[in-house]
Amino acid sequence: MLGPDDRMNEGRENGADSRFVHIITYGCQMNVFDTHRILQVLRPLGYRETDDPAMADLILLNTCSVRDRPEQKVIGTVTRLKPLKESRPDMMMGVCGCVGQQHGRALLDRLPWLDLVFGTDNILDLPDMLAATHKGRRVANTRRMKRREYEFVGVDPAVERGPTAFLTIIKGCDKVCTYCIVPRVRGREVSKPADVVEAEVRSLVASGVRDVTLLGQNVNSYGKDLQDGPDFTGLLERLDGIPGLSRLRFVTSHPADADQGMLECFGRLPRLAEYLHLPVQSGSNRILKLMRRGYTVREYLRCIDTARKASPDIAVSTDFIVGFPGETDEDHRMSLDLIRAVRFDAIFSFKYSPRPGTRAVRMEDDVPEEVKAARLLELQTLQDGIMAERMSRFLGRVEEVLVEGPSRASGFEWMGRTRTNRIVNFPPPEGASIGPGDLVDVRIDEIKAHSLRGTVLP
Ligand code: SAH
Ligand code: SF4
Ligand code: F3S
Repeated sequence: MLGPDDRMNEGRENGADSRFVHIITYGCQMNVFDTHRILQVLRPLGYRETDDPAMADLILLNTCSVRDRPEQKVIGTVTRLKPLKESRPDMMMGVCGCVGQQHGRALLDRLPWLDLVFGTDNILDLPDMLAATHKGRRVANTRRMKRREYEFVGVDPAVERGPTAFLTIIKGCDKVCTYCIVPRVRGREVSKPADVVEAEVRSLVASGVRDVTLLGQNVNSYGKDLQDGPDFTGLLERLDGIPGLSRLRFVTSHPADADQGMLECFGRLPRLAEYLHLPVQSGSNRILKLMRRGYTVREYLRCIDTARKASPDIAVSTDFIVGFPGETDEDHRMSLDLIRAVRFDAIFSFKYSPRPGTRAVRMEDDVPEEVKAARLLELQTLQDGIMAERMSRFLGRVEEVLVEGPSRASGFEWMGRTRTNRIVNFPPPEGASIGPGDLVDVRIDEIKAHSLRGTVLP
């Protein structure tokens, strides 16, 4: 990201052509990836990124509508930025991503100072849309691309920063989870051809990336829509052989499609890092059925078992929703039982939030807010204890750490991650120079609530 000093330098370098874009990204990693693609599309137009909205010629909010709260936040931020727009009418302001896709033109009606709204399939149209806004038009574009015309933007290593990168390999979702808005805002599944994925990973590696996370709402659906080409397991096998790549990861895989072949990859592909995020949502079969998740608790446990047999130290994380319509105390207790049975390394838990246009909206949102809050707290408290215990296994161990950059906690220290995705902070080793992208062996000396601290071994 550019700061004020950089802006002056850039200005000198690029003369009058330099423009600045400020992008605020909400939601999942797919949005982080899309933000990079937006920057990439804007580069030829002379735009560079700035973290200061007051300096921007263009402000974009890349948004998430998976729950009501993030959606409200977007409205709040656009409203907060209104005075800036009024003081600088030549500055363009837009909303994109999932809220843009969901509400389209209605956002322009509701927020009259907004110039631009576009959806999840329209990043490539950005130059045309901006040209129109500069002619004084207000633009809303949520056109869904048809499979035939779907074009992936590709990866420009120049907009990647640091040794880790996300890469979307499949867009959309063909599942029918009754609570979920994603299929509406991201459309049907479209897999990126394997040759393209491989070329993109190679170009990321050539630009210094060492740790690539493959993205999709359901990555293990990969390839079902392609004529010939590998399935997800085949893709992992293919990417695992790329020279210079240290680690491969993926999110999110779906338990209903997690076959034995995929789970066993953790034991046999050397670059595939030992980390599995497998959202379960509930520990009650009755609720899983109402959610239309397509698996039972027993089947889910079998997935975890297979992954742990293949790779005993694998870190497993999951998502839970509490307070789904009709969820009883007994259903909730079953979720707690499942947490105790699996002993997850991390849990992302959410209160059920009714989303417009989903099937669950027709079910009564009958769990009172205070019960949702109490169940969430109970779940999180249980998990805090389990997580502390799971973290303690690292004490005294030597872990392979990929150096990412300066530590956020202290600028004098480095920060990196274990293969199991744990953050490790450590002082620079004496007498050796290390930098982002290096793999170092770190002895873990201290366990913090959400991170580890250690010493680099020679
Ligand atoms: N594709 C992934 C995750 C999708 S969204 C999967 O299948 O699991 C990320 C998480 O948001 C979900 O796992 C779920 O826990 C949560 N979520 C989705 N819709 C929600 C809703 N309406 N209310 C509360 N949480 C929701
Ligand atoms: Fe939503 Fe279900 Fe698709 Fe995940 S699999 S994105 S929860 S519909
Ligand atoms: Fe949110 Fe869209 Fe991702 S709704 S979770 S940003 S796909």
